[in-house]
Amino acid sequence: METTIVAHYKIALAGSEQQFTCAEDDTILRAALRAGIGMPYECNVGSCGTCKIELVSGEVTSNWPQAPALGERDIARGRVLGCQSRPNGDCTVKARPGPQYVSACPPQRFAATLIEVRELTHDIRQFRFQLAEVVNFLPGQYALLQFPGVDGPRAYSMSNLDTDHACWDFQIKRTPDGAGTGALFDRVKIGDSLQIDGPYGLAYLRSDSPRDIACIAGGSGLAPVVSIARGVAANPAMDGVKVHLFYGGRAARDICGEDLLQALPGYGERFFFHPIISMPDADSAQQWAGKVGYVHELALEVLGATLAEHEIYFAGPPLMAQAVQKMLMQEKVPGGQVHYDAFY
Ligand SMILES: Cc1cc2nc3c(=O)[nH]c(=O)nc-3n(C[C@H](O)[C@H](O)[C@H](O)COP(=O)(O)OP(=O)(O)OC[C@H]3O[C@@H](n4cnc5c(N)ncnc54)[C@H](O)[C@@H]3O)c2cc1C
Ligand code: FES
Repeated sequence: METTIVAHYKIALAGSEQQFTCAEDDTILRAALRAGIGMPYECNVGSCGTCKIELVSGEVTSNWPQAPALGERDIARGRVLGCQSRPNGDCTVKARPGPQYVSACPPQRFAATLIEVRELTHDIRQFRFQLAEVVNFLPGQYALLQFPGVDGPRAYSMSNLDTDHACWDFQIKRTPDGAGTGALFDRVKIGDSLQIDGPYGLAYLRSDSPRDIACIAGGSGLAPVVSIARGVAANPAMDGVKVHLFYGGRAARDICGEDLLQALPGYGERFFFHPIISMPDADSAQQWAGKVGYVHELALEVLGATLAEHEIYFAGPPLMAQAVQKMLMQEKVPGGQVHYDAFY
């Protein structure tokens, strides 16, 4: 059998004693997080810019040289994206690690087998992957999935809990003309094995907070908030915590998730599902007797002034995330109570 030898390089953090090892096929950010070093990041897919570091010495190759988060000024200043940079040899980088970026569950790379696909709506499917062994994650975290024939991995949040038979579930919305979701929906079959890297993400359930929880999600953002609700239900120390899950779509056919919450003990008493659609006329085939408007407006209508007393988790497309952020600022919700990983 042929064995591929992967070189490992030393990455030193300028101005500190800290250093770690990075495999030539790994990225500097992900290797740092695997080593328990809290390098700042958010999306992990080249879009947010939070992972910018300065290359003091050594050379790297970018997995995605056109990544939108890196501008010409960055390049001129010797900055690179930690989430996209593979080392070509030993390197020294300038970064500002922080303890808040260290994951309680260090990310790992592994293969997993697709064992089940379930339709949730006309364009959202749940994909269940079987791992060889349990890999821990916190409710609300995400992983990177590499699809065959697609450049770069894509980020997807787990919707279940890590106690679920060594399986990771993802609820994925097909993006029109999307390379990754096109490959997953059309070409990946039951029994196929994919490379997964995770867990990542900072919008995980704060299980030590006694506050009630408001989860606000739109479209592709359902998975992490379902995982958070399930995490609360499974944690006896959070028995007194209520969870309101607000979920927005364009039309009636976009709404799903109520059955997932109904399965939790205490549905209607501690766990509440509040759906809303923004374009009732977009789907004449399905009647809608529920709320019409935007999901952030519904959260404010239901929780009113008590919103600022909640722990808030939100996930979804950029426009929705901006509207939620603006509303939370207007309502003076303390920043420390707000948790999200922007979706791109
Ligand atoms: C933290 C996070 C969590 C997410 N969770 C979910 C979820 O639970 N469910 C869900 O449906 N969606 C989720 N998304 C969105 C998802 O990752 C994809 O952006 C979406 O599915 C569209 O992918 P696509 O390949 O079909 O579309 P495309 O338009 O082909 O690609 C979209 C994204 O892929 C990345 N990308 C594109 N080209 C490259 C390249 N050459 N190299 C590297 N990266 C590239 C970019 O980030 C781009 O925005 C999440 C995103 C993030 C950042
Ligand atoms: S661009 Fe690297 S973490 Fe977002």
